[in-house]
Amino acid sequence: MTTGSAPPVVELAEAGYGYEDGPTVFRGLTFAVRGGRALALLGRNGSGKTTLLRLLTGGLRPTSGELRVDGVRVGPGRAALTRLRTSVQLVLQDPDDQLFAASVGQDVSFGPMNLGLPEEQVGRRVEESLEALGIAALRDRPTHLLSHGQRKRAAIAGAVAMRPRVLVLDEPTAGLDPHGQEQLLDVLAGLQESGTTVVMTTHDVDLALRWADDAAILAPGGPYTGPVGDLLGDSALLARAGLRQPWGQAAARVLRAHGLPGGEGDAPRTPEELLSLAGRPGGAGRSMPAAGAGGLPAQAPPGPAGR
Ligand SMILES: Nc1ncnc2c1ncn2[C@@H]1O[C@H](COP(=O)(O)OP(=O)(O)OP(=O)(O)O)[C@@H](O)[C@H]1O
Ligand SMILES: [Mg+2]
Repeated sequence: MTTGSAPPVVELAEAGYGYEDGPTVFRGLTFAVRGGRALALLGRNGSGKTTLLRLLTGGLRPTSGELRVDGVRVGPGRAALTRLRTSVQLVLQDPDDQLFAASVGQDVSFGPMNLGLPEEQVGRRVEESLEALGIAALRDRPTHLLSHGQRKRAAIAGAVAMRPRVLVLDEPTAGLDPHGQEQLLDVLAGLQESGTTVVMTTHDVDLALRWADDAAILAPGGPYTGPVGDLLGDSALLARAGLRQPWGQAAARVLRAHGLPGGEGDAPRTPEELLSLAGRPGGAGRSMPAAGAGGLPAQAPPGPAGR
């Protein structure tokens, strides 16, 4: 990926990967996550999104090519893995695949404890992460007795407690109600404000258009990468990728076809933006979800082991 001028924090260079009992998913894949850019990864079922996230976060090792952090190859040694884990953290789609400790607090403390941090620092990180995710009251609750949305938050808190520079989330909004989705976006906005780079997969093109700076679309001949408005405005690419057109792009097209204001320039990403572009009151222009949980330091000190 070449979007933006910031150097890649983490990147795959000429990476190949095939499952032992499955397909070859990638050949010669070059893909970079740049610091400070919100990146949405899109593509149809089975296009390789989860595989790509696992390659980026070290859960799968490329069979050819390499993974790099800050331009340096991640080797198989323990020090390299620790560097990776304090740089990039993956939150799986299904929280039940991620949570394993008896209580929320224990689960969130696992990663920082494995870094060998003193107890008091671990406690502080757990506290901050639970606060950031709005689940401080659930600290002593057994994870298996939580609702799906609460388990998702607990899983994200576990990754946040590692203070990664890049937080990678696999379909984080799937299974959340609208309120839960907005809350999650607030949480992510807070993390982004404190310097965390966020990458997420989603099937929701409207969410991607509203939330992301850049998009990466997995489709034959791809991945296709670039500013989210450009990619999601490309109907031919969307059709190839099996994605529908975002609502805002469709609305802008209708306005344009009727020679109405608001049809030119960037497509609206929210109803308020549409009103604003069309010259009606009620639109405040483009806005991101408000920061709800800032204040977390973005980087972790290196330690001897990872989560
Ligand atoms: N553990 C596995 N063993 C064998 N093949 C696998 C395995 N996991 C995924 N695959 C295959 O690799 C390809 C990419 O799968 P992947 O899970 O990365 O897709 P995805 O884009 O995340 O899909 P979805 O939108 O359904 O989550 C698919 O063809 C899938 O069947
Ligand atoms: Mg997947």
